[in-house]
Amino acid sequence: MVKGKRIVITGASSGIGSELCKALAGENTIVAVARRAERIPVHGTITPLSIDVSNKAGMDRLLDEAYRILGDVDIFISNAGFAYYEKWQDADWEHMDSIFKTNVYAPIYGLQALRARKGSAPFQYIITASAMSFYGMPGYALYSGTKFALRGFAEGMRYELEPGQHLQLVYPIATLTEFFSVAQSKHLPWPRQRAVTVAQAIVRGIEHKKNHIFPSPMYRFMQGVSRIIPIIPIYMKIEGRKFKKEFSKTEAVHD
Ligand SMILES: NC(=O)c1ccc[n+]([C@@H]2O[C@H](COP(=O)([O-])OP(=O)(O)OC[C@H]3O[C@@H](n4cnc5c(N)ncnc54)[C@H](OP(=O)(O)O)[C@@H]3O)[C@@H](O)[C@H]2O)c1
Repeated sequence: MVKGKRIVITGASSGIGSELCKALAGENTIVAVARRAERIPVHGTITPLSIDVSNKAGMDRLLDEAYRILGDVDIFISNAGFAYYEKWQDADWEHMDSIFKTNVYAPIYGLQALRARKGSAPFQYIITASAMSFYGMPGYALYSGTKFALRGFAEGMRYELEPGQHLQLVYPIATLTEFFSVAQSKHLPWPRQRAVTVAQAIVRGIEHKKNHIFPSPMYRFMQGVSRIIPIIPIYMKIEGRKFKKEFSKTEAVHD
């Protein structure tokens, strides 16, 4: 059980982050962050903060406020993130900048900022990556790039951490949250899971200090099988065909 900890959770106004707040409230003291702070679950042990984590000033404020409110941080869950579902064709720097700032810079900067305060003291830093950290998905090329980046960063960074400092990555498959409407995708990949299932897996992963948290055992199994029979790449190929069809129809409508 995760008990008596001082915890920061980003992306707390919806989906996985909101479920994490519910799972961890009561036994722990939490600073929960999102831009829409009014949507963060209400509980006596949760302090909601409205912060945009996609810039340095926001992240610095978050760390300052967390230390002011909690005194120290034992567990930091960097969960805020989003995707575009799109046909990637036009050169657009701002578009790339926006997703990398939230999905990559914020979690990496948050870890640096926490380490600077903790020195060699123990902590757990959890990042919600994705099943797309291993396999890029058609329509989500840019998003997959952000989640691959996190995995590469974590692999190197773990060797630099002190004993007792844990960097833990979570790899959810398609999860029923606002994620797909924010991404503007009508098409939900299969299989799917519930946000509460992901949150429970994260809590277990925190308890057992797991470096890699797979909320879907089926995905883990399919990853293993794919080393012998490439079922996930075959699945992506099929998705790629559907994606091309969908976007050629959309383009035809716009022509
Ligand atoms: N759903 C899936 O299928 C899936 C699969 C794999 C991984 N993931 C990852 O899981 C994490 C949580 O996503 P979710 O599925 O729970 O989606 P969600 O329901 O859309 O929640 C996303 C959360 O991130 C917050 N957020 C986004 N941009 C932010 C910013 N600039 N500053 C502060 N907060 C920000 C949102 O809050 P505000 O809008 O109020 O700021 C919201 O609370 C993400 O990192 C996502 O990439 C999701």
